[in-house]
Amino acid sequence: MKKILKYVLIVLVAGLVIIQFINRPEKINDPVTENDIIENLQLNTEMAGLLKAACYDCHSNQPRYPWYANIAPVSWTIAEHIEHGRDELNFSEWGTYSARRRDHKLEEVVEEVEEGHMPLPNYVKMHREADISEEQLEMLKAWVQQERAKIAQEQEGE
Ligand code: HEC
Repeated sequence: MKKILKYVLIVLVAGLVIIQFINRPEKINDPVTENDIIENLQLNTEMAGLLKAACYDCHSNQPRYPWYANIAPVSWTIAEHIEHGRDELNFSEWGTYSARRRDHKLEEVVEEVEEGHMPLPNYVKMHREADISEEQLEMLKAWVQQERAKIAQEQEGE
């Protein structure tokens, strides 16, 4: 019995070592442009800080990578989150979105955060700074409301 356990352990460890060489996802770190929501809308420090701490790791072109992002299979999961997250919403490309899209995304931002779907709960466990407080949620909602009102005005003018 002891022998079997030993073999299982060896196979597991060998497997872990081998997968490190299979696929090393490329890290993303593109320069910040004027299309970034923080630049584009000249967000204040609090709003910028909130988005950066809680959302930018999956919804921007400048994710921060923890040390374990170098280790498969965690590295694959992280890369997948970043890929899907940016497909849905990329704050670094905010300035390229149509008014309609911006409005829709802002609506979703509040929904997702209020329902506790975003930031992803597993991520929050590992990143305490991404845990959005009641006050931060209120600030986010007030900002979204104000921003959506601006977009509505913009659309009327079109
Ligand atoms: C750990 C990665 C991660 C973080 C951090 C994160 N998201 Fe996401 N987000 C995703 C992924 C992956 C998707 C796409 C799949 C899904 O909807 O679950 C997504 C989807 C979304 C969507 C689109 C939902 C839809 O169904 O259309 C919105 C809006 C969103 N996130 C907002 C946010 C906001 C706001 C924050 C910060 C408060 C945030 N996310 C933080 C990974 C993340």
